[in-house]
Amino acid sequence: MALIDTYGRRINYLRLSVTDRCNMRCCYCMPAQGVAKLEHKEMLSYEELYRVSAACVEQGIEKIRVTGGEPLVRRGLVDFLGRLSALPGLKELVLTTNGLLLEELARPLKDAGVARLNISLDSLQPETFARITRGADLNRVLAGIDAAQKAGFGPLKINMVVMRGVNDQEILDFAALTLDKPFTVRFIEYMPTLQDEGWGAQSMPGSEILAAIGERYPLLPLVSSEMAGPARNYKIQGAAGAIGIITPVSGHFCESCNRIRITATGRVRGCLFSEQGTDLKPLLASGDPEALGQTLKRIVTQKPGRHHIAEEDAEQAVVNMSRIGG
Ligand code: GTP
Ligand code: 5AD
Ligand code: SF4
Repeated sequence: MALIDTYGRRINYLRLSVTDRCNMRCCYCMPAQGVAKLEHKEMLSYEELYRVSAACVEQGIEKIRVTGGEPLVRRGLVDFLGRLSALPGLKELVLTTNGLLLEELARPLKDAGVARLNISLDSLQPETFARITRGADLNRVLAGIDAAQKAGFGPLKINMVVMRGVNDQEILDFAALTLDKPFTVRFIEYMPTLQDEGWGAQSMPGSEILAAIGERYPLLPLVSSEMAGPARNYKIQGAAGAIGIITPVSGHFCESCNRIRITATGRVRGCLFSEQGTDLKPLLASGDPEALGQTLKRIVTQKPGRHHIAEEDAEQAVVNMSRIGG
């Protein structure tokens, strides 16, 4: 079965947030005072997450990316992923993590059937890293990345959210990581997800990031595959890895969007910037897979054509990234 929306986009990718908890508090994700934590009972249980994933796959989802908060802080995750990866019809199970717990968990994740990892890493300087994450230890993430390579994960994707005046002086250091490591380093435009008046000045356009890298290194464009995410990819001539630029602000990729999201509380959202989303909990409680499938189809039909965050008169978007998972 295929899920096609009203704009002719084939929706085959689910981003599934399994928790709102996180062991970091990145400045672009959480306000300084933190965010109210969900009660355990507000979150979908693993049984519910499995059933909703099965319904999505039944409707045409082929790839599931598990996100958070930080997914690895939820107890029992590896067992759940083992079940999920065996879901008939699912082609690819992948995960986005901040890497803090990867040193212990990389191998179990690989054994559970996780195909690929995206790792968020915004600085290679311990102090800057601690400032951005409000206190996390860079060395643990670097050890986690190492462990993921040793566990046999294919090319890792490293996500760097570029913030002018915070970590933009490290763009070339991140690009250089790809010279002898098979990483895909992706530079992401900072999106206004918090009610942050100053976001525009901080968000650095992808074109500027690319120009800075291009001034130092010869860059070759790469062609993206259909299952690839929102990045435009390049390679430094002769490098082992690749470079991706993700431009949700300056050049949105909505016309090729292939995804829906389910939040940690069981709300399904057609777009990262949709309102609230539809609560799947009552449907899960009723145990009617037919109704669940119909609701998923309806959400896809209502999926908006694009977001409007970068427009002059746009309302400031407030998106709780730690519940939606980016
Ligand atoms: P791949 O499948 O590996 O390409 O993953 P991905 O890039 O879709 O996922 P990841 O979790 O690594 O997210 C990378 C960045 O892209 C994050 O900043 C996300 O918030 C952002 N992102 C992912 N999907 C969307 C989307 O549909 N809309 C917008 N605006 N941003 C997105
Ligand atoms: N803008 C851009 N990317 C963000 N992420 C979280 N918040 C933002 C934001 N405001 C990224 C994280 C992670 C991914 C899931 O989303 O760095 O890599
Ligand atoms: Fe945690 Fe990710 Fe938010 Fe950082 S961006 S605080 S790692 S959920």
